[in-house]
Amino acid sequence: MKEISIPEGLLKRWRLIFGEELEQFLGAIRRPLKPSVRVNTLKISVRDFLELMKSRELSLMPVPWCKWGFWVEGTEEESLGNMWEHFAGLMYIQEASSMIPVEVLQPQPGMKVLDMAAAPGSKTTQMAQWMENTGVIVANDVNAKRLKALTNNLERLGVLNVCVTQTDGRRFGRLMPGTFDMILVDAPCSAEGTIRKSYKAVLNWQPWGYKKLSETQKMLLVSAYKALKPGGVLVYSTCTFAPEENEGVVSYLLENYDVETVPVEVQGLNVSPPVEEWEGVSYHPMVANCVRVYPHKNEVGGFFVAKMVKR
Ligand SMILES: C[S@@+](CC[C@H](N)C(=O)[O-])C[C@H]1O[C@@H](n2cnc3c(N)ncnc32)[C@H](O)[C@@H]1O
Repeated sequence: MKEISIPEGLLKRWRLIFGEELEQFLGAIRRPLKPSVRVNTLKISVRDFLELMKSRELSLMPVPWCKWGFWVEGTEEESLGNMWEHFAGLMYIQEASSMIPVEVLQPQPGMKVLDMAAAPGSKTTQMAQWMENTGVIVANDVNAKRLKALTNNLERLGVLNVCVTQTDGRRFGRLMPGTFDMILVDAPCSAEGTIRKSYKAVLNWQPWGYKKLSETQKMLLVSAYKALKPGGVLVYSTCTFAPEENEGVVSYLLENYDVETVPVEVQGLNVSPPVEEWEGVSYHPMVANCVRVYPHKNEVGGFFVAKMVKR
């Protein structure tokens, strides 16, 4: 059990968000996360990978919502990263909740897909598995250093269907209108949900951070809406609990653009309902289709996921 000092302002917000589950939540974020990996089926079958792990005397527990995902018992993330199976690209170390957005998007072989904020590529490489290395994924990020990690990951995992771009995601709507079958906006956010992995988000917490982030997120989402073909699917995800960055952003798109949400359904995941109202603002009724993923209900990091269809 680790002691974390949480700023009073943040605790006040969490009290409103988690209500009577607050103590359970605070207990969960003090427990370290179990490391998890995604088997890279572009290089090895799940069956052969499990055999390899058996020979290393590591026991793997399936992640219910991703058929390639496993929690690894009895080892640390760092040791996993040093295994030859990792260098050879047979696996990708990925937090189990981070596997959710792509399982919700379900990109199909042959599609044209945009990963708007893609680095370091956890979800891009997962999409490539869904698409069986066919079609095209435009993997974009604004940050050159993080893109370097993404290109290394693509190479290590043998991903062949990705075109890497470095630009501000807010430009895609203008540059490539009506182009993509599916888009993922895994947005930059206040990262409150990553607290089990790092205290950075809590240490850097500022009450005024949410406004700036939510403005960027709204612009990224509008850009994604414009870059999508009519009938195209858009998944918006964050790893924060802040309603301004989650329901508030989705509500903005619903109120101003011709888009609808569809229910997020994820097998084996214990989801919590979205926030309907925050600081006196009621959100659009269609945010009811979005889901919140809480650490005390799934032994994972926190996540928010919305699925939308452009009319
Ligand atoms: C949550 S991380 C993405 C994680 C990534 N999807 C993955 O699964 O590996 C958010 C990313 O957004 C990028 N970013 C921030 N502002 C951006 C912008 N305006 N346009 C595009 N990317 C941006 C950051 O550099 C960061 O890599």
